[in-house]
Amino acid sequence: MLDLVGLTGGWGPTTIVERLSLSVGAGETVAIVGRNGVGKTTLLELIAGRAQWQAGQICIGDRDISRFPIHERARAGIGYVPQQREIFPSLTVREHLTIAARPGHWSKDKVLELFPSLSARLDSLGAHLSGGEQQMLAIARALVTNPSILLMDEPSEGLAPVVVEQLVAAVRNLVGGHMLAVLLVEQRVDIALDLASRCIVMDRGRIVSSASSEDHRSGIINVADMMGLGR
Ligand SMILES: Nc1ncnc2c1ncn2[C@@H]1O[C@H](COP(=O)(O)OP(=O)(O)O)[C@@H](O)[C@H]1O
Ligand SMILES: [Mg+2]
Repeated sequence: MLDLVGLTGGWGPTTIVERLSLSVGAGETVAIVGRNGVGKTTLLELIAGRAQWQAGQICIGDRDISRFPIHERARAGIGYVPQQREIFPSLTVREHLTIAARPGHWSKDKVLELFPSLSARLDSLGAHLSGGEQQMLAIARALVTNPSILLMDEPSEGLAPVVVEQLVAAVRNLVGGHMLAVLLVEQRVDIALDLASRCIVMDRGRIVSSASSEDHRSGIINVADMMGLGR
């Protein structure tokens, strides 16, 4: 579904992500963990077309989209939930979902089934939503574009534990369904291993480990070591 081959890029002339290769199959969920500043967000921004491509391939199916502008990447099947959520303060929940919608399984009604708490907030402005509601709306907005791969950047960040629980439960219903591929950046290793079948550790713009979540859980791979937290 998504194939990165030797992907290199960053911001302006600065290289952050270096010769990174990775594949996410249809219906597969892959998590990326790593310390702050290692380039996880930059990697997603490169795929979404918001950071500066320097070399390598970004393929969706057999199309190389590495030179496509942002809107054409969305059309090619990339759904993006950015770390800052980027909810418009002056648009309502309904407007966010209406503007983004494209035909497919994920209609407005379907995403509201996934996030019932948004139903009561349809006419609320983005500015009036809680952090949790904004995160749910950011995911819902990406889903109604009916992507083939969903990129999510630290959805649990800054949310209260009870809200994180709700969110993880919703995302669990989402992953693996309808052949949607998911690439999830997640600071919390427990959440990453819970949701993903494979977990990748990034350090300084490169992949330093890629293993099944099972191997991570059983301790064959020690994520904390890999993330350099034990150093
Ligand atoms: N929009 C941006 N413009 C310029 N530099 C950025 C931008 N976003 C991130 N960076 C830089 O890229 C490097 C990697 O950051 P980032 O990809 O955000 O890491 P992570 O998501 O793993 O914490 C950092 O040095 C950061 O300062
Ligand atoms: Mg980040």
